[in-house]
Amino acid sequence: MKPIKKICCIGAGYVGGPTMAVIAKNCPNLEVEVVDINESRIKAWNDTNLDNLPVFEPGLSEILKDVRNKNLTFSTNVEYSIKKSDMIFISVNTPIKKKGMGAGQTSDLRWVESCARQISQSAKGHTIVVEKSTLPVKTAQTIKEILDSPSINNSNEDRTFSVLSNPEFLAEGTAISDLVNPDRVLIGGDDLEAMNALKEIYIKWVPESKIIFTNLWSSELSKLSANAFLAQRISSINSLSAICEVTGAEIGDVSDAVGMDSRIGSKFLKAGPGFGGSCFKKDILNLVYLSRFYGLNEVADFWQETVEINSWQKTRIYKEIVARLFGNLADKKIAILGFAFKENTNDTRESPAIDICKNLLDEGAFLNIHDCKVNEETIDKDLCRKKSSNRKMWACKKDVYSVFEDAHAVILMTEWSIYKTLDWEKILPVVKQPFWVFDTRLIVNPKVIKNLGINLWQLGNGMNQ
Ligand code: NAD
Ligand code: UGA
Repeated sequence: MKPIKKICCIGAGYVGGPTMAVIAKNCPNLEVEVVDINESRIKAWNDTNLDNLPVFEPGLSEILKDVRNKNLTFSTNVEYSIKKSDMIFISVNTPIKKKGMGAGQTSDLRWVESCARQISQSAKGHTIVVEKSTLPVKTAQTIKEILDSPSINNSNEDRTFSVLSNPEFLAEGTAISDLVNPDRVLIGGDDLEAMNALKEIYIKWVPESKIIFTNLWSSELSKLSANAFLAQRISSINSLSAICEVTGAEIGDVSDAVGMDSRIGSKFLKAGPGFGGSCFKKDILNLVYLSRFYGLNEVADFWQETVEINSWQKTRIYKEIVARLFGNLADKKIAILGFAFKENTNDTRESPAIDICKNLLDEGAFLNIHDCKVNEETIDKDLCRKKSSNRKMWACKKDVYSVFEDAHAVILMTEWSIYKTLDWEKILPVVKQPFWVFDTRLIVNPKVIKNLGINLWQLGNGMNQ
């Protein structure tokens, strides 16, 4: 097999952009191109002002300064990029299907299929096609069938393909450090030469012991399983947060005590308003769908519960807020701190803030919203209701202290670090009394709040209910 010199990544999103930036940085001899059909996204990736990148990730702009327009380019010319590449990563969106068979349960594969068709039409010679998107088990089979079917454009050419699965495990907000120092790199396939070609790229910066080979189906299933395990830990600790509140226990103490067992481990045991992000829910639902498809209903029910508890957590927080504000939110101003699904990202997909804010709006509240990286356009889109609805009942504030003016309560939704050091003495004079702090992330110091005579509800804190 000829050495890999040019790679293309289809999909310039939260995965495609950062992943290719790290590959380009570590493999200066490779020519890397990220392509997308979304022109405005590509324009933003090419913006000379790095503050305008479409994805906010700590450390990303520093890498782009080094590699962009050297061995890393961003373009909308998908066909040309496919034609000249030896290896193509498919890194497109795979959201849950909205309509038709499997709606609300399995991934919509239209974007993946369209990539496979484009590759089939435009590729030359031997091409390694790498699944980077998270996909239902057996999708590699679909991709292979499309690639191997005769193509009109290339009918006379001798084209061959190898399909690999190389799922991405990065988390948003820590994408660059996760990519630079991954726990493992998983390569699934049945063509050892192609698998080794991909390994040659990663080995430039990842220790060999962390690069593992499996068959295609183990690789696809491992990605869904890892996300299911992680999400299950969050649902476990969140379910316990509710028990803490009624028994007088404290969830932070319970997490610490449980996590100190080396068999359990301390990571991913922070109680919160429920997991958000574009993937946990979708990937578990895919696992549930797969289980039902194979008649494994008990397995499906087991994983489904992880998602149910997550929705319940959001609803119960909203109900706690309404109950403490005398069951009436009409004409009340509520400050919302944080709209992203976690800190250090501008992503709001499946953010718990969306559901909670929508419920509060339905109660008639007016919301003053602050986030460190999410822009007003995104918040408007996320909270947008039917055309028939009344005037916009929220305002986005740039200055964190301005959300408090005339507010009856504040809800801490995202754990941005500036919210941990708020000056509550400065806030007190501008709010309405009685004033409530609802802390869903356990980031305020209860003593400080209580000493100022402010009411506090803190998730999982049975001492302060
Ligand atoms: P994203 O929505 O941010 O980006 C996907 C991009 O693909 C979009 O810009 C879209 O325009 C583009 N696209 C779709 N079809 C195309 C086509 N035919 N040709 C060219 N471009 C096309 O998605 P993302 O968050 O980067 O996720 C991508 C995949 O990676 C998903 O399967 C997701 O489950 C998985 N994943 C995501 C994360 C994460 O943290 N976001 C982590 C690991 C894995
Ligand atoms: C997650 C996984 O961590 C990644 O390994 C995976 O690659 C990715 O999904 C994916 O496939 O998309 P991500 O969703 O970006 O990454 O972020 P996480 O750090 O996992 O957080 C997910 C949600 O869980 C957030 O809403 C976060 O606030 C919440 N969370 C996380 C908790 O409530 N408690 C915790 O202890 C950890």
